[in-house]
Amino acid sequence: MAETIKRIPVKTFADVVTARRQALDLSLAMGFPMPEATKIAVVVSELGRNIMLYAGEGTITLLPNEAERYFKLIAQDQGPGIEDIDLALTEHYSTSGGLGLGLSGSKRMMDEFEVWSVVGVGTRITAVRYLH
Ligand SMILES: Nc1ncnc2c1ncn2[C@@H]1O[C@H](COP(=O)(O)OP(=O)(O)O)[C@@H](O)[C@H]1O
Ligand SMILES: [Mg+2]
Repeated sequence: MAETIKRIPVKTFADVVTARRQALDLSLAMGFPMPEATKIAVVVSELGRNIMLYAGEGTITLLPNEAERYFKLIAQDQGPGIEDIDLALTEHYSTSGGLGLGLSGSKRMMDEFEVWSVVGVGTRITAVRYLH
């Protein structure tokens, strides 16, 4: 069975809203209950906002896999990168005067959360939530 793969270019905050909505719809469609689907949508929103704030543009790819019962998402950009990934994942750490809860909160809401980032090259975050 072919799985839906949605690659959403993120260039404006409106694109982030679109990505968030699609994550909600796709996760509900594959059977995640609303509270779970909402978490996935929040993660997409937080990672999308980070793309806008720190990199200016990037992409979010949604990979719902009904057969394997997981929802995977990838947020990537070719922005400045993250110097200290552990620090960036610390609660309340922010270089923009924000709440500093986007990455730490997203990590807590997902089953797998992997940050790849190289200064001057970009950032790619891959996250997975299983349908239990
Ligand atoms: N895509 C990104 N590119 C570069 N730096 C990032 C990116 N995403 C997050 N960061 C860094 O990680 C920090 C923590 O992110 P986050 O937890 O979302 O908090 P906030 O956005 O409120 O600062 C940011 O302040 C920023 O320095
Ligand atoms: Mg953030």
